[in-house]
Amino acid sequence: MSDFLVEPSASIAGCIRVPGDKSISHRALMLGAVASGTTDVEGFLEGEDCLATLRAVARLGVEVECRAPGEVRIHGVGLKGLRAPGGVLDMGNAGTAMRLFMGLLSAQPFDTELIGDESLMRRPMERAAKPLREMGAVIETCDGRPPVRIRGGQRLHGIRYEMPVASAQVKSAALLAGLYAEGETTVVEPAVTRDHTERMLQSFGVEITARGGTATLRSPARLAGTRIAVPGDFSSAAFFIVAACLGAREPFLIQGVGVNPTRTGLLEMLALMGADLRLVNHRSAGAEPVADVEVRPAPLHGIRVPDRLVPLAIDEFPAFFIAAACAKGETVVTGAEELRVKESDRIAVMARGLGAVGVRHEVLHDGLRIEGGSHRRRYGRQPR
Ligand code: S3P
Repeated sequence: MSDFLVEPSASIAGCIRVPGDKSISHRALMLGAVASGTTDVEGFLEGEDCLATLRAVARLGVEVECRAPGEVRIHGVGLKGLRAPGGVLDMGNAGTAMRLFMGLLSAQPFDTELIGDESLMRRPMERAAKPLREMGAVIETCDGRPPVRIRGGQRLHGIRYEMPVASAQVKSAALLAGLYAEGETTVVEPAVTRDHTERMLQSFGVEITARGGTATLRSPARLAGTRIAVPGDFSSAAFFIVAACLGAREPFLIQGVGVNPTRTGLLEMLALMGADLRLVNHRSAGAEPVADVEVRPAPLHGIRVPDRLVPLAIDEFPAFFIAAACAKGETVVTGAEELRVKESDRIAVMARGLGAVGVRHEVLHDGLRIEGGSHRRRYGRQPR
């Protein structure tokens, strides 16, 4: 654990890049592992969560070479080539790793047990277990939480699953199990969620259609090793985007950011608040759209966040709440109860932080009401 000393700065300026996308890095390892042939990944995020996936993949008998910073080569073993790990698989803090592995491991010929750190051991896993059981998997959780025990040797069949919660992790778990299932697997989302799994499966040559919140995968599937360029993580860029909206004196540029429209709800929310944001230099990294994000300072005003944007910005609310605190007027977020079951309860944690710096707010069961600018009135004239 490191200590950081943060000092206020009068402005933010320059041009930066952010580390590789976490969601895409997890998926690259898992799909590369069960592909036939090698998969080369560049821009891989070497953060703790993705390293937990990397270690798990290695324990399942897949050789992964770390060739240079951010560059990994996965020697895929094919859909049927994974080996019993010989002990529990520890997912650390990574909910994405646990839920996606539940899908991938539910049709293997061996048993597996998944555990995680203290926070992950408290998170809900039944949401992913439910569709997998409908497909024929045998999965046990402990009162809905990890450890997750998966019995091997089951034959899975395709289903049509209408998800009760908008979750890309649950959708992905069902689609990964669908690679092994007999027939078609269809997942219908109640609201659009990130579609990295669908896009990446296509890059590996899997027949999958995804339209209007419904994804259908046909098996038998075969994945062919490929090259994956991981774009910069929009969730990491989010903090700098908000900082630049509030504190840039000249255009601030973040280069090479993944701008998949299922991830960029924050841009729409900030634009509704009056932010001056531009996506320039559009290109693609394989199946994913990439751009540079240019931010100019502009005064922000409070908004009521449209419900449809909530799942498209689910990981960016902590940064968004800061923008709301500095905007003029009131901002209201509702329909965001999913924030309560992330690595931490992000509504409670952010409310505590906002309270600590004097921002007036009201905690709602599914969101927050924030009175923008209130901290200035309370603390603005204090000597520094
Ligand atoms: C993720 C999906 C989201 C997100 C998480 C990463 C993914 O979770 O919050 O950080 O990579 O699929 P949910 O599926 O629970 O919404």
